[in-house]
Amino acid sequence: MQNIQSILAYDLIGFGSGIYWGKHDKALLDLVGTLPLVNNKKAFIFSTSGIREGRFINNFNRQLKRRLLAKGFTISGVFSCRGFDTVGPLKLIIELSYGLPNAQDLEAAANFAKELG
Ligand SMILES: Cc1cc2nc3c(=O)[nH]c(=O)nc-3n(C[C@H](O)[C@H](O)[C@H](O)COP(=O)(O)O)c2cc1C
Repeated sequence: MQNIQSILAYDLIGFGSGIYWGKHDKALLDLVGTLPLVNNKKAFIFSTSGIREGRFINNFNRQLKRRLLAKGFTISGVFSCRGFDTVGPLKLIIELSYGLPNAQDLEAAANFAKELG
């Protein structure tokens, strides 16, 4: 991988991954830890998870958000939707996650991107 700090050349940076054991991919969380402090640089967060993200419980984005804020980013938006899941309780009823993200999720993602500007 090229110098990871080169991503800081961008005005708006998206950070996202699938959710694993309640948070973003460890590699992504570690990557944010390696970034230098920034001054109100704009970031957005995205994730897919087996269970729908919630504000209080299943707040999967909390840890990444906290790390980005600690580095001096401002969070311009957060997008989450369900993805195809092969672990946990959904493994038993896997057909529930076939076809996810679906057309509605993709439309919501496109609207999210438009609103980010
Ligand atoms: C090892 C593992 C752990 C997971 N942990 C969670 C979890 O804690 N909560 C959840 O809602 N989904 C969990 N999932 C489901 C994933 O978040 C979901 O399948 C996601 O769409 C995967 O994204 P990816 O295809 O980009 O890897 C887990 C999946 C795997 C493989």
